[in-house]
Amino acid sequence: MPKSNYLLHIERHKEIFDVIHAIYRIANSAFTAKDLLSGLLRTMQNSFNANHCSIVLSYPNRHPFIKFTLKNKRKYQLKKGGKSLLTKKEKEIFNSGRIYFTKKTIVVPLIFINTLGVVTIKRGASIHPFEENDKQFLNILAEEMALVVRNFQLYEEQHRTIIGTVKAITGFVNRYAPTSSIHAEYIHKILKELGKRFRLTESQLISLEYATLLHDTGKIEIPQDLLEKSDPLTKEEKEIIKKHPKKGAEILKNLQALRPAIPIILYHHEKYDGTGYPSGLRKKQIPLEARIMSVIDAFDAMVFGRPYKKSLNLEDAIKELEKNKGTQFDPEIVDAFVKTLHSKEVKKYLKNKLKKV
Ligand SMILES: [Fe+2]
Repeated sequence: MPKSNYLLHIERHKEIFDVIHAIYRIANSAFTAKDLLSGLLRTMQNSFNANHCSIVLSYPNRHPFIKFTLKNKRKYQLKKGGKSLLTKKEKEIFNSGRIYFTKKTIVVPLIFINTLGVVTIKRGASIHPFEENDKQFLNILAEEMALVVRNFQLYEEQHRTIIGTVKAITGFVNRYAPTSSIHAEYIHKILKELGKRFRLTESQLISLEYATLLHDTGKIEIPQDLLEKSDPLTKEEKEIIKKHPKKGAEILKNLQALRPAIPIILYHHEKYDGTGYPSGLRKKQIPLEARIMSVIDAFDAMVFGRPYKKSLNLEDAIKELEKNKGTQFDPEIVDAFVKTLHSKEVKKYLKNKLKKV
């Protein structure tokens, strides 16, 4: 017996709610524009049984446009460039804000105050043609997608502003204490891997990224001759150096956006067995991110050297980390960290950089 119009109506609404829910789930877990847009494309493809889906977005502060395309459930393609990325029809819809609809193609604009981009879905001849319902459905979803895309762009802008401030502070600190900085390029990759292993949230990862750049900010209040001293430090001099985590936390605590990074900066010299500073915390009393930071900082100092420490080769640095498992470092973090060193990208970076040291 054919379904009544009422039942069809209910099913359609349920389907719309499910897809909207999926859009917000993707938006909440996306860390990059690539995660967000590829997730949205897959959702569109499944919901409309489409052969071809694409999203073009205007990205005024970076590339004029980016375009993500997914064809026949294969890997998506990403292109960056000017208006030539848009098809003639996409340009028309982007400029007019209207909807284009045929039995094989639907193009809708993504509008949030201004036009942000366009979404295109296509069906091949072997699949039944699009109907009016599909057009309405895609239009509803486009409103939600425009909202999550705009939120994401605002979040990216905010993140860029904070990173700009962080880099300005780091630049200043590095001029004063040049060898205290960690090589952020490979650490970024390592953090991503450790993030998966320890189920770190996006905000924990961002705080670690900030702390990587700012952990030694307090050194600007330490006499420069002590920072540059290559002879062994006296007991008194060591005590002065040990003040830098507290001083760093003190300097940065008023920058609201950096607040979550403060405990990492404050505790990055604590040791797993409780013999570190400034508070002598032990094991899980030390925040997880600070335990991670401690391994990263020590490893970077080992392989790239510091005025007070000769550099080690990669194998010896790994042995040193292993040797200090359970005393200086959290053993689980050392194990996970050493695993990440075997990733292709990290290996390649270290090989090139260490040649130059
Ligand atoms: Fe430090």
